Amino acid sequence: MIKFSQCVDSMRTSEIRDLMSVAMRPDIITFAGGMPNNDLFPVEEIDEIYNGLDDKTKKIGFQYGPTPGYPPLIESLKEYLRSKGLPVDTNEIIITSGSLQAINIITKLFVNPGDTVITENPCFIGGTSAFKSYQANIVSVPLDSNGIIMSELKKAMEGEAKNAKLLYLSPYFHNPAGIIYSKKRKEELLKYLDGKEIILIEDDPYGELYFDESSKELTVPMKTIQPEVVPICYTGSFSKILGPGMRLGWLLASPEIINKAQLAKQSMDACSSTFTQVLADQFLRKGKLNSYVERLRITYARRMNIMNDSLQKNMPQEAKWVVPKGGFYIWISLPEHIDATEILKESMSRGAIFVIGKTFDPMGVKNNCLRLAFSHTPEDEIERGVKIIAEALKARL
Ligand SMILES: Cc1ncc(COP(=O)(O)O)c(C=O)c1O
Repeated sequence: MIKFSQCVDSMRTSEIRDLMSVAMRPDIITFAGGMPNNDLFPVEEIDEIYNGLDDKTKKIGFQYGPTPGYPPLIESLKEYLRSKGLPVDTNEIIITSGSLQAINIITKLFVNPGDTVITENPCFIGGTSAFKSYQANIVSVPLDSNGIIMSELKKAMEGEAKNAKLLYLSPYFHNPAGIIYSKKRKEELLKYLDGKEIILIEDDPYGELYFDESSKELTVPMKTIQPEVVPICYTGSFSKILGPGMRLGWLLASPEIINKAQLAKQSMDACSSTFTQVLADQFLRKGKLNSYVERLRITYARRMNIMNDSLQKNMPQEAKWVVPKGGFYIWISLPEHIDATEILKESMSRGAIFVIGKTFDPMGVKNNCLRLAFSHTPEDEIERGVKIIAEALKARL
């Protein structure tokens, strides 16, 4: 028998990835994939960018690049992050292969097997899987509509997560909960963390995707507040604002941390794709990001409204959700006794799929929730899909 390492034992296949194969069936309406629709990608802009490159730059794109990233992209990204108020002059950047790699690198830097990582519950499955692959002990803390519940966080940090190494939060248009942290909750959080020996990962791939200007101020990262009360590793990504196939993310952190992050990345992939870094740099430099993201905000807001209206019309009153102010997801909570897997089976047989709650519970237990992504589904299919799920739910209530 082949003997795998201990860290392989802790790996589980993501149910989202498994669902993808069903989602490919043409007759299925899917709310499962947390990704943009292919029709939304800025193909023309990228064509124009590539065709406008000189030969020398094209060739650089085919070559290995420096581990911290393609220098022009680091510069243009710095400008972009500076415009969001982030401390790019006292911190450094490393370009990563998606922000998931940044999360992996941070975990590698700080977590020994058996160390504790605090996450939200629910939590982005990629984060949970990364922590588990480094054999972390995960303590998860529930969310409410304003963010992590402070009394529960205190209980954890004074109890079973006393010596936790990392606190992983995704405060802006959470995957899967769809919420954004209130200003007050962020203040309470920073006040409580002041002086604690823990590293905060502030994971922010969706912050740009707010649906109206009044929500924009909520997206101001905690990393903008200087001096930091605890070291903050701020992670971001081009996946939701350009395309996940670029496989480009970043980590903004203190020079000491970035130094070690470079060493960790060297043994992972040496450098992220130079080819896509060249394109992303031009996308930023030519000011195309802002106009593209503006288009995305309008599109996603419209999709969310269609989904929310359909849910209000069709869902039984037992189903509760917070109307998102941005991002990709609506998170439906059902009475405790409901098993989302049963609803999914019923719904799949009728022609619509979503992701079940326990996928996002680091313990893999709590299953009375459904994640519906509106980012990927064509507008004219949303209402029909929601109706199917509502009927499946009513049949199981
Ligand atoms: C909260 C969160 N963080 C990180 C990521 C990783 O994104 P990527 O590795 O594509 O940058 C995702 C992707 O869905 C996400 O939802």
